[in-house]
Formats: sequence, C-alpha cells, structure tokens
Amino acid sequence: MKKQKIIIDCDPGIDDALALMYAIQHPSLDVIAITITPGNVPTSLGVHNALLILEKLNRLDIPVYAGLENPLKRDFVSAQDTHGIDGLGETHFTRQTDTAAQPTSAVDFLADFFQKPTDVSIIALGPLTNIAKALQNNPSLGKHCQRFVSMGGNFKSNGNCSPVAEYNYWCDPHAAQEVFEKLGKSIEMVGLDVTREIVLTPNLLEYTRHLNQETADFIQQITRFYFDFHWEYETIIGCVINDPLAVAYFINPDICAGFSAYTDISTEGIALGQTVIDSHNFYGKPSNAHILTTVNTYSFWKDFLTTLFHAQIDEELVKKFI
Ligand code: BDR
Ligand code: CA
Repeated sequence: MKKQKIIIDCDPGIDDALALMYAIQHPSLDVIAITITPGNVPTSLGVHNALLILEKLNRLDIPVYAGLENPLKRDFVSAQDTHGIDGLGETHFTRQTDTAAQPTSAVDFLADFFQKPTDVSIIALGPLTNIAKALQNNPSLGKHCQRFVSMGGNFKSNGNCSPVAEYNYWCDPHAAQEVFEKLGKSIEMVGLDVTREIVLTPNLLEYTRHLNQETADFIQQITRFYFDFHWEYETIIGCVINDPLAVAYFINPDICAGFSAYTDISTEGIALGQTVIDSHNFYGKPSNAHILTTVNTYSFWKDFLTTLFHAQIDEELVKKFI
C-alpha cells in the first residue's frame, strides 16, 4: 500500500504527543516533517517535546522545524495550565540525544515546500500561526497541498476557552481567520463536536497495560495531569484527546461525518476565536470548510490502540471501556 505523505504542524502538548506517536507508527502514513507552532507551550518547548517523542520512537530522521514564537496579532497565551509547565503533564522527561531543530524556520520550510503541486497533506494540530504566515509568503500553499485537516473550532459544542471558542482558533484567531479565508482548499475541520467524544478513560488506560506495559506507562505518566485538569474543569473522569482524532480522520475519513459550509473566524469582542459556521447559508458564500459533527468512536480506538500498542485489541472490552 502506498503511504500517504503528511506534514504535521503541532504544539506538543499531551494530545499532540499522542497524535505524533500514532501518525509516526501508522503503516499507511509517511510523516515527512514536523513543524512547531506556538500554542500549548512556547515554540522552543514544543520543539523539545517533538524531539523527545521522535527519540522515544527511534525516528530522529524526521526533521523538526521551529515556527514563529507568537500569534500574528494577539499576545501569546499558552495552555500550560492544561498540559503542564513542560507541556507533557509535568513529567519533565529529559532527552538522551542532542539532535536539534532544522536551521530553516517552519514558515520558510512550509512556504518553500508547497511552491509546486505535491502529494503531501498538512495535518494542523495547533493554532494556525505558522500556516497563516506561510500562506502570506506563498499564496499557492493551499492549492499545492493534497488535503488540509485542522483540529480546531466547534459547531454546536461549547468552547473550551470561552463559551464559544476552542483553544487553537482562540489562541490565534487572526491566523485562523486568514487560513479559512485564503487557503483556497476546503479545510477539513475536526472540532470539539467530534473530539469531545474521544475520552481516554481510566479503565481503557488500565486495559492498555495488558497490551504493552512500557507504552501504557508512558501514556499514563503524561496524561495524569490532564486527568486532573479534566476533573477540575469539565467533571470528566479521564481526558479528552483531541489531536489523535484529526490523524485518524485523515487516515479514514469514513470514521466521521459532517457537512460543508462557509466558515469564518471571529477576531474580536466576546466571540473572539469563535468559528462562525453558516450551516443555513445566510451569506450565500461558497463553502470553504467541511465541518465534522459525528464520529464512530470505536473505529477510532481500534486503529489508535492497535497502532500504538502493536497488538490486537479485544473488541468487547474496548467497547465496554470507552
Ligand atoms: C486543542 O487545544 C490544545 O490544548 C490541544 O492540543 C488541542 O489541539 C483542543 O482545543
Ligand atoms: Ca494541539
């Protein structure tokens, strides 16, 4: 089977780390580069965390590019309250090697890479800061990438940073607004309506110890802080892992369903960062996004667990634990 080539733009981040582990080990994906955007953690810390995951997977051959350090216009607000001061649940893991990020910036890399048509897609798991800037430098970027999947936004689900806004688009609403307006390709939006269905429960986590103890221990360590955050702010026992769903949906779009609509991002006032999705076509503008609203959670967990743990799962048990 021909592997699908992807570039992952991310801000690791606990769920970004899980998404990287998933994508890198998936038999149908070829991760050709990782670009780091300011988001959950400052960019330099995101670079450190991406390299830590690559080191762990023995995949330091995948180049990492450091992106911008601040959103386009707003002051930077990280999500270290959610992901821990180190971005990985305050595990403070240290690296064993000194491999560094590439000398080229993520923005230059992305703008240059998509100068010509390619068979490479982008999966964006953080604020769209790097993508917006690369698009300013190369307006053909959208036309020259295969697919563009973005974890962010929300339709009917409430926000997680304000009543109406999701973190990635709230952190850099101007970047999100520019990308939705100017990409020139339908943005496949994996928002909170579907990612909130993906809850890593204590039972499921415990079950994974019987699939591969070392991997389970690592996931348990990085998600402990995230569990506490979810209990405190959302009264959830477990944690929502948003970003891996964007990868799963990229691999198999049939696991989610939704609709296409014109979508804009609010850049000011009380609706800052909100995805304004014209599901009833008030504006009469052509659709620029595909908005996902439902997900087959078991299909997600099946592919995610078998990939991360290199093991067959027990369907009945997993269905009971999700
Ligand atoms: C998004 O924000 C971040 O905290 C997560 O990594 C995810 O990309 C969810 O709102
Ligand atoms: Ca993220």
